[in-house]
Amino acid sequence: MEKINYAKGLEGVIAGESEICKVEGEVGRLNYRGYSVEDLAAHSNFEEVTYLLLFEKLPAFSELADFTASIRKARSLNPEVLEMVRNFPKGAHPMELLQSVISYLSGYVAHRIRHSATCNCRRTLHQVAQIATVVAAWQRLQEGKDPVVPRDDLSHGANFLYMVKGHVPEEDEGRIMDQCLVLHAEHGFNVSTFTARVVASSLSTCYCSISAAMGSLYGSLHGGANEKVMEMVEAIGDPAHAEKWVLEALDRKQKVMGMGHRVYKAKDPRARVIEGYLDTLSRKKNDFRYLRILKEVERVFRARMEEKGKPIYPNVDFFSGAVYRLLGIPTILFTPIFAMARVSGWLAHVLEQRKDNRLFRPKSLYVGPDPRDYVPLGER
Ligand SMILES: CC(C)(COP(=O)(O)OP(=O)(O)OC[C@H]1O[C@@H](n2cnc3c(N)ncnc32)[C@H](O)[C@@H]1OP(=O)(O)O)[C@@H](O)C(=O)NCCC(=O)NCCS
Repeated sequence: MEKINYAKGLEGVIAGESEICKVEGEVGRLNYRGYSVEDLAAHSNFEEVTYLLLFEKLPAFSELADFTASIRKARSLNPEVLEMVRNFPKGAHPMELLQSVISYLSGYVAHRIRHSATCNCRRTLHQVAQIATVVAAWQRLQEGKDPVVPRDDLSHGANFLYMVKGHVPEEDEGRIMDQCLVLHAEHGFNVSTFTARVVASSLSTCYCSISAAMGSLYGSLHGGANEKVMEMVEAIGDPAHAEKWVLEALDRKQKVMGMGHRVYKAKDPRARVIEGYLDTLSRKKNDFRYLRILKEVERVFRARMEEKGKPIYPNVDFFSGAVYRLLGIPTILFTPIFAMARVSGWLAHVLEQRKDNRLFRPKSLYVGPDPRDYVPLGER
């Protein structure tokens, strides 16, 4: 058969135009609508970044005040949603719950509005606001505790910690949580965002787009990686064991989670910032175990890959799990936290897709059997 070249996994294929985010993989740079993630993490907050993503500009003072008030007002769950969280099968992962909750939430928006091409995800902010509340409620119920009613005087990150732990976090910890959400809010045509855009391209609802994106984020090659990083850290247990562990994993051709990226060929800028948060929290809590193990894994992994001529660097997930752990968040919530942040980017992409839509319809290269005769059941 004639060999036809194609881009497996669409690697390197430009699948559309976007004004939302610029990822410069070769140099490790990431901007949202022209603003660097380093600047946004240092000076902005998740609510303002959500505004930036959805409205295409930084808000003026009063615009931010109105927007923040409406997101915070939308944080509380309707009793039926809370009932759904309560009754969801116990063995399910919270990402599976979130995927269902998003579809459920669509029922609160009139059919006419959901299906209009101009369906205003900007107005129905409950997708952005309520994911955090659902995740926190799920965790509280797992612990046999009552869900905590959200507060409207805390940032998105601080309020999340409050709802998970039941007490207002120290200011610096609430701020770090919020900054982590800023850093995860958007990242171009990654697989979950692409999923959201593909679904949006059939003129489906923004709820169906977000719910599909949620399913895509759940996979361990995307959102699940920081959970796996922490499993690795637990398995290693001590920085002195890291070298042996990493070398054996590479000999077995096992992927080291949190390392490498389809786009970045330099250190992920988000990893650099989050490493700083890990350093801050490790000092504050006088607990350096995670930091030391991770730094040792990074050192050994990078040295071995350099020897093979493959410079591979930590990605955003490498340090984030350890930060969440030091903030007192259980591992199972790591991917849901990613979803809490990325929903802003997903919605921005759904809106952008609708502005200049073309149904996604790539072709596949058929490699199946040649035409053949149907064999009746009794003759097989
Ligand atoms: C993200 C990922 C799928 C990108 O893979 P990719 O596009 O194939 O990456 P590259 O082309 O840069 O890989 C070059 C080589 O390094 C290897 N490599 C990349 N990341 C690796 C890792 N984390 N562990 C071991 N080897 C790795 C690849 O297998 C490839 O080897 P090959 O040349 O023998 O085929 C991959 O790095 C990975 O699985 N990382 C771990 C999962 C993770 O952290 N995901 C979160 C991403 S934000």
